[in-house]
Amino acid sequence: MMRTLFAAIIFLAVAGCSTPPELQDRPYRLKHPSWFPEPVIPADNSLTQLRVELGRRLFYNKAFSSDYRISCGTCHVPSAAFTDGQPVSTGVHGRPGKRNAPTLANLAWMPHFMMEGGVPTLELQTLAPVSDSNEMNLDILQVSRRLSEDDYLTSLSRAAYGRAIDPYVITRALAAFQRTLVSYDSAYDRYEFLGQKDQLNEAQLRGRALFFSPRTKCGGCHGDPFMTDFEFHNIGLYTTYADPGRERVTYDPADAGKFKTPSLRNIALTAPYMHDGSMGTLQEVVAFYNRGGQDHPNKDFRIQPLGLSPAEEADLVSFLESLTDWNFVQNINHLPLED
Ligand code: HEC
Ligand code: HEC
Repeated sequence: MMRTLFAAIIFLAVAGCSTPPELQDRPYRLKHPSWFPEPVIPADNSLTQLRVELGRRLFYNKAFSSDYRISCGTCHVPSAAFTDGQPVSTGVHGRPGKRNAPTLANLAWMPHFMMEGGVPTLELQTLAPVSDSNEMNLDILQVSRRLSEDDYLTSLSRAAYGRAIDPYVITRALAAFQRTLVSYDSAYDRYEFLGQKDQLNEAQLRGRALFFSPRTKCGGCHGDPFMTDFEFHNIGLYTTYADPGRERVTYDPADAGKFKTPSLRNIALTAPYMHDGSMGTLQEVVAFYNRGGQDHPNKDFRIQPLGLSPAEEADLVSFLESLTDWNFVQNINHLPLED
């Protein structure tokens, strides 16, 4: 009896000390500008300092892939606004993926994930690349086992979520970190929302007027403040699409070739463009819209020949370049830690 009690006291003392003082958790205040609405954060994954920190370490951890060579950050590189510069991403063993890696800015406001919108929450989204045989190619339980061998990650997990590393913790911590990737400080934002009129040059001002005009209708789908309507549209990229897009989740042929409108924030940093990375430059994209796209029964009515002059095309490109947020891509809180 005495011995059991003694053992219990020792155990409690050790357990009590197992959280180093630097691992005391505190709420994390998500900074966002007045021109963004309040984000909806799931009640079971409120943001805290340690959840975000754990998520950051997991995001850059290569134990996520079967060959230990690929982390989330391999395809979502901070300096490229969390894209990878390739037409379609390369996964484990150099296997080519099917789509272009999208930017990860402002995910806290995104209502559905993936280009066809088939994944309802950021927590669930994590499971897709991990198990995809062309991406990370690993079972999430195997990832948990690998990560559990790391004592520091384990103590972070206990301090942040009150439990050892498991799929529950992995999906939530990655989501927590990704919700902190907020981008709102482009020259365009400063001009439009902070009234700093010197932020855009003449060409960018002309491009802005064109972008939001009834003539081009760009702003109809890529509107403020996220530069996307989060809806699904077919823009007439092909007469026959190799990738079914939205049809993949609805099985409705009327959705063939529809993709979630990508945000144009940081667009100058995220080439190549479109779901399949088929366009290398913004000039090419604008020339495509100017031609009005290809015939497709599902093509949105707004995609029509625009009759833009070469100078007007160049102005639109200049405006798109004003959407870069340098503080976002250089934010040290988003970068991997060397430990
Ligand atoms: C091999 C490259 C690759 C790796 C590794 C990878 N991703 Fe992705 N990611 C992509 C591609 C490509 C897409 C677009 C997929 C689609 O829409 O079908 C994507 C989509 C996403 C999205 C959805 C964004 C949106 O706009 O809907 C999120 C969030 C995301 N990835 C986070 C992660 C996380 C977290 C990890 C690590 C667990 C990860 N990715 C690993 C290439 C990758
Ligand atoms: C009907 C809605 C709609 C309109 C109008 C529209 N877009 Fe898009 N835009 C989209 C969708 C959807 C995609 C993704 C298409 C795909 O990947 O197949 C896209 C893709 C893009 C991309 C590439 C984004 C990336 O990350 O790959 C750029 C740049 C772009 N649009 C700029 C413009 C400009 C400039 C205009 C006006 C000339 C415009 N868009 C008008 C819906 C629209």
